[in-house]
Amino acid sequence: MKGIILAGGTGTRLLPLTAITSKQLLPVYDRPMIFYPLDTLIKAGIRDILIIVSPEHSGNFLNLLGSMFQKFGVNLSFVVQKSPRGLAEAYVLAEDFLDGQPSVLVLGDNLFEDDFTEAIQSFKQGGRIFAKQVPDPQRFGVVEFGSDYKVLSIEEKPEQPKGTFAIPGVYIFDSEAVKVAKSLIPSARGELEITDLQKYYLEKQTLDVRVITGAWFDMGTHESLFAAGSFAREKELGKQAHPMINDAIAEFNAEFKKIVSLKK
Ligand code: DAU
Repeated sequence: MKGIILAGGTGTRLLPLTAITSKQLLPVYDRPMIFYPLDTLIKAGIRDILIIVSPEHSGNFLNLLGSMFQKFGVNLSFVVQKSPRGLAEAYVLAEDFLDGQPSVLVLGDNLFEDDFTEAIQSFKQGGRIFAKQVPDPQRFGVVEFGSDYKVLSIEEKPEQPKGTFAIPGVYIFDSEAVKVAKSLIPSARGELEITDLQKYYLEKQTLDVRVITGAWFDMGTHESLFAAGSFAREKELGKQAHPMINDAIAEFNAEFKKIVSLKK
């Protein structure tokens, strides 16, 4: 199983914070946002991770993460998405990296309380996504459940949502996702929609949807970014991160301080 983190996009809803840096590098309490999706993947045992970045901020990602995990056996690769053509384009950009393997895609601006290790490690084929009850489903992909949680429909940011279950940004798909993503047609807003990929698996009856109950933050607005930072502080999420992440950060900081003192 390989991992992908989508860390491109423009972050316009967070301006002016995102005028000079990437949304996924903004601070969420004591660490840049990207460490939360990284933690989700590393905790699940994934050691081969592709980070998709925008051209404007690729250098910042490399400076921070380029060699941070090398000695810990985590292989980070980077690919530049020339313009934000939609979430499903991740699979097109990741074709060579995936090399026919299944993958977990985590959105670079999503923070979860839940642990996805079991859901990732037990995955066999088809697709597996998640559902979380929210007060404002129209902001998200929405899954409509029938009786016994049978999935009836999936819609991207519907004006009139059929239910209150949003689809958060963790997607597990088998190798077919690349072929399907390549065949998608851009939506009215000009993006290759991740919900269209989900619908393909739904129609084939190979889509598994699991309800999650822990806290979830899509940190795309000032309000949710602030709330996520407060949550991370209150719950001491830093202490709960995979030890490899905290060790890598500690080493990075020590190295950084050494370089700064040499420059003085
Ligand atoms: O947060 C969950 C929601 O994420 C889902 O429920 C929706 O189905 C899904 O479309 C998505 O909606 P958003 O409007 O929140 O997506 P956003 O544009 O914020 O992008 C999510 C992440 O992916 C963010 O880290 C930026 C990155 N991104 C986005 C696009 C469109 C890219 O790297 N490339 C892109 O082309």
